[in-house]
Amino acid sequence: MRVAILGGTGGLGRGLVLRLGRDTAHDIVLGSRDGDRAERAADAFAEGIADTAGPDHPDDGSITGATNAESVGNADVVVVAVPPEPAPDLVWDLAPLLPADAVVVSTVVGIEMGDDGHAYRRPEAGSYAAAIAAAAPDHPVVGAFQAVPAGPLAALDEIPNYDVPVVGDSPDAVDRVSGLIDDCDGLTGVPAGSLECATTVEHLAPLLMSVGERTDRSGVGIRFV
Ligand SMILES: NC(=O)c1ccc[n+]([C@@H]2O[C@H](COP(=O)([O-])OP(=O)(O)OC[C@H]3O[C@@H](n4cnc5c(N)ncnc54)[C@H](OP(=O)(O)O)[C@@H]3O)[C@@H](O)[C@H]2O)c1
Repeated sequence: MRVAILGGTGGLGRGLVLRLGRDTAHDIVLGSRDGDRAERAADAFAEGIADTAGPDHPDDGSITGATNAESVGNADVVVVAVPPEPAPDLVWDLAPLLPADAVVVSTVVGIEMGDDGHAYRRPEAGSYAAAIAAAAPDHPVVGAFQAVPAGPLAALDEIPNYDVPVVGDSPDAVDRVSGLIDDCDGLTGVPAGSLECATTVEHLAPLLMSVGERTDRSGVGIRFV
């Protein structure tokens, strides 16, 4: 598959590019507002992967950098990994460029940082996944990775241990994204309901951050037992 990661230069984007690039044979296109920045980041991430990839890891995928608009051209999956404020408008602008069968993945969460713990910032659409679905009405949109911390994804010398809830209205799209997640060492895609359930999943992110800070643990995430 060809996977475009919009905002691939950022914190979560870096983790996703490194993890997908190292553990899977998919072609990863790192998207950015700046094509040169994307190419530099893609080269640096590919170099980092080459240093850690062992014999068990596939070496037939590629990592390239492009502008966000160029990255979505032939994508099977487009992962939106930019901050909440610009995310719906970015998807709206790119929607006409998406291949007809591309699945859009929202990782986006609105968080109000507070001294007494962090709170979910609910957008008018009910969730960011719903806001992104409204911006790409002709494509299936799923929510995933909202409750996965970026740090452990990027730490290639360790295997993460997270379940990743995947929510969406298209069973085929949920399957495609769950399969992509399952291809990564230590990650398991878990179908978790319709797109309406994205509100629930997005709420988990500030909770996990608050727990991490209060218990002095990094990389707090989800495992369903
Ligand atoms: N960080 C985490 O642990 C984590 C975990 C789960 C979910 N998420 C979600 O993932 C998304 C990205 O989080 P992050 O921490 O990776 O954010 P980030 O590092 O602040 O930003 C990611 C990238 O977004 C691009 N960007 C910034 N402002 C933009 C704008 N106005 N328009 C278009 N692109 C813009 C930038 O890339 P260029 O400058 O190269 O274009 C930046 O590198 C957020 O919605 C967050 O809720 C994050």
